[in-house]
Amino acid sequence: MRVLGIETSCDETGVALYDSDRGLLADALYSQVAMHAEYGGVVPELASRDHIRKLLPLIREVLQEAGVTEKEVDAIAYTAGPGLIGALMVGASLARGLGYAWGVPVLGVHHMEGHLLAPMLEETPPAFPFVALLVSGGHTQLVEVTGLGAYRLLGESLDDAAGEAFDKAAKMLGLDYPGGPLIAKLAERGTAGRFRFPRPMTDRPGLDFSFSGLKTFTLNTADGLRDAQGELAEQDRADIALAFQEAVVDTLAIKCRRALQQTGFKQLVIAGGVSANQMLRERLEAAVAREGAKLFYARPRFCTDNGAMIAYAGCQRLLAGEQDDLRIRARPRWPLNELQPVAAG
Ligand code: KG4
Ligand code: ZN
Repeated sequence: MRVLGIETSCDETGVALYDSDRGLLADALYSQVAMHAEYGGVVPELASRDHIRKLLPLIREVLQEAGVTEKEVDAIAYTAGPGLIGALMVGASLARGLGYAWGVPVLGVHHMEGHLLAPMLEETPPAFPFVALLVSGGHTQLVEVTGLGAYRLLGESLDDAAGEAFDKAAKMLGLDYPGGPLIAKLAERGTAGRFRFPRPMTDRPGLDFSFSGLKTFTLNTADGLRDAQGELAEQDRADIALAFQEAVVDTLAIKCRRALQQTGFKQLVIAGGVSANQMLRERLEAAVAREGAKLFYARPRFCTDNGAMIAYAGCQRLLAGEQDDLRIRARPRWPLNELQPVAAG
């Protein structure tokens, strides 16, 4: 089965074609990051309009790259939520329209399920059951995954998501949006051990997270070092970036180990934008090894938003016999644990 995947939940227009026999045939991505950078964050209305401009050209590009005509597409999967309502509507209505014109089934997919399954696109994919750490701009969740659609929430952030914390800390250091990759880069020049930031909620049992205190700690540390003009020295910025990143990474690693111990599972999957973070991967590699477990993640391009993960997730559900009615689905809020286990097809 050949499935066209469409992702438009936030600020990336992602399109891909996945073949259940041959794997990923093509994928294309247009990032709106440069357009939003000027405003220090995503402007929803601009995002929607840009998805309208980019989506059809990207679909044509993907079909051409795959050497597939529209008649050879068997189904369409689109991101139905969670995300920005206007941005979601663009992908959902175009997917519906194309499905109607081509006479193929169309399925709305949960964006975080897409992230969660993205490591399945890699050469050595994980197998059910596993623990998943979802770390993106909007979510920080530990999930017990026992099958397709069988997701039990083990813990989540009570305030800011990990990616959001990266973005806010970046802003304090005068970096652009999205700040995650920029903090990581700046941290490479940081002095190890100069600052030690707190590891929130690690001194008590449980698998929930909280990153807002860390944000305040970062702000106070930065403000304590600013000169009369309010400027930070280059080395101070790098040292703060490193201390902040280490605190987030350590906190995530401690909770991941705990989740592995609690479930007894031997596989940890990390997904979402923050899973592209190199220090997180290295620390988690060491942490899971101590549990006799294995770590799985997607290539960096498939950690952040992309069409391939939506095509893949949609394909798995369609193969299991799932169908949508003709409604255009767009849910800005959609808890992952509302999904139901899908019987193997
Ligand atoms: O999954 P994603 O592309 O979009 C959402 O669904 O939210 O995640 C975007 C988030 C942003 O907060 C960005 O700063 C963060 O992922 N991010 C990173 C890295 N790359 C992206 N955070 C830390 N290190 C990175 N290398
Ligand atoms: Zn995402």
